[in-house]
Amino acid sequence: MRLRLPNISGLLKLLALSALVSCLPSQRRQLTDFQLSALIDSHPPLPALSPNYYTKTTTASSRSAQSSSGASNGQNNNNPAALLTPILIPRTPGSENATIVRNHFTTHFDALSNWTAVTDAFTATVPEYGGVMGMLNFTNLIFRLTPPGSDDMPSRYLTLVAHYDSKISPFGFIGATDSAAPCAILMYLAETLTPYILARWKADISAAADDTGLQIIFMDGEEALVEWSDKDSLYGARHLAELWEAERRPSQFGRLSVLQDIDLFVLLDLLGADSPSVPCFFEITSWACRDIAETEATARNAGLAKTKGRKPFVQSDNVMQNVFIDDDHMPFLTRGTPVVHVIPIPFPTVWHTMDDDGAHLSSDAVHDWAVIVTGWVAGYLGLGDFIA
Ligand SMILES: *[C@@H]1O[C@H](CO)[C@@H](O)[C@H](O)[C@H]1NC(C)=O
Ligand SMILES: *[C@@H]1O[C@H](CO)[C@@H](O)[C@H](O)[C@H]1NC(C)=O
Ligand SMILES: *[C@@H]1O[C@H](CO)[C@@H](O)[C@H](O)[C@H]1NC(C)=O
Ligand SMILES: [Zn+2]
Repeated sequence: MRLRLPNISGLLKLLALSALVSCLPSQRRQLTDFQLSALIDSHPPLPALSPNYYTKTTTASSRSAQSSSGASNGQNNNNPAALLTPILIPRTPGSENATIVRNHFTTHFDALSNWTAVTDAFTATVPEYGGVMGMLNFTNLIFRLTPPGSDDMPSRYLTLVAHYDSKISPFGFIGATDSAAPCAILMYLAETLTPYILARWKADISAAADDTGLQIIFMDGEEALVEWSDKDSLYGARHLAELWEAERRPSQFGRLSVLQDIDLFVLLDLLGADSPSVPCFFEITSWACRDIAETEATARNAGLAKTKGRKPFVQSDNVMQNVFIDDDHMPFLTRGTPVVHVIPIPFPTVWHTMDDDGAHLSSDAVHDWAVIVTGWVAGYLGLGDFIA
């Protein structure tokens, strides 16, 4: 065995890094009651996440002016844009409606400062159905908020994922929990946290290079088109995992797979129905699952939850290692990516029926999931000191 000393520039980099690390408050620190209350008060989830809120989208320029003006001015509550309602339409892969929903995402993220977009569009072989003969276009959308100055270093992303496609049958199926509400929650989260993330990086721009960024994936083609099988399901996730496994970029350790940029892959699915019960699924990420449960407890103690007198949404003392759910995390999990799967067991009673629509959503549950996930991510990214 041989200890290799770093070369001088490596040594300087190490010294610089060790000097810098202490300049930003540490990441992965849960918000206090006070910080979580301040965060949610500054930007309440409702009415933007209400299923029947139709207020027209505010103009991109007014919202980007507001979000670039910093954390102290993060609210725009007089006329929030509808986040959920525009997704509550049938949006099967390759359809006009799928394009409309993607434009809704893109308009939203374009209006937030400093996000970049990546499109993963591809054509895949599908079973024949309806008028479609064997080939279909799919599009995953990825949005990233990257720490400044991290270009020559591996940048890590906390990665939040939901699928936006809807099932082809029954005809007219909406998929409000599956997964319109999770998509809208991720839009809300990005809008709420961007000013605080930027404030953190601005506080020490050179230390920021070492920080974790945020990546949000809207996945296409999760649903089977005819009948669920390895080939007929997870079209978007299978394509993206394969693409990122092959994609390499230089780092100080040699060429790394882009897949390794994923700090943690957090998949939200089937959220928005009443009384969910979400277990932890993986021992290796149960720490994150427990942190989410802790954020939920903080939210309930602080009086921020609208669903009251029920058992907690997240059951973190319960690691269900023997339950196997095929979902968008699988192509990543099998390639070694650490995963947190936020999905209720049992599934909502409306699952894969015409009743999985806006009318059957629990606005209160959608609200509380938005508070829990946003608060947890704020803690993960070390935003507490920049909130209150
Ligand atoms: C597209 O969405 C509209 C609602 O905006 C709906 O009426 C229509 O049926 C959808 N189109 C398809 C092909 O599903
Ligand atoms: C599928 O994508 C290809 C390549 O972008 C495009 O030329 C074609 O028109 C698309 N097909 C449909 C049905 O949208
Ligand atoms: C955000 O973008 C602006 C304009 O492109 C840039 O000047 C600024 O440094 C960025 N801020 C951060 C924290 O990345
Ligand atoms: Zn489904």
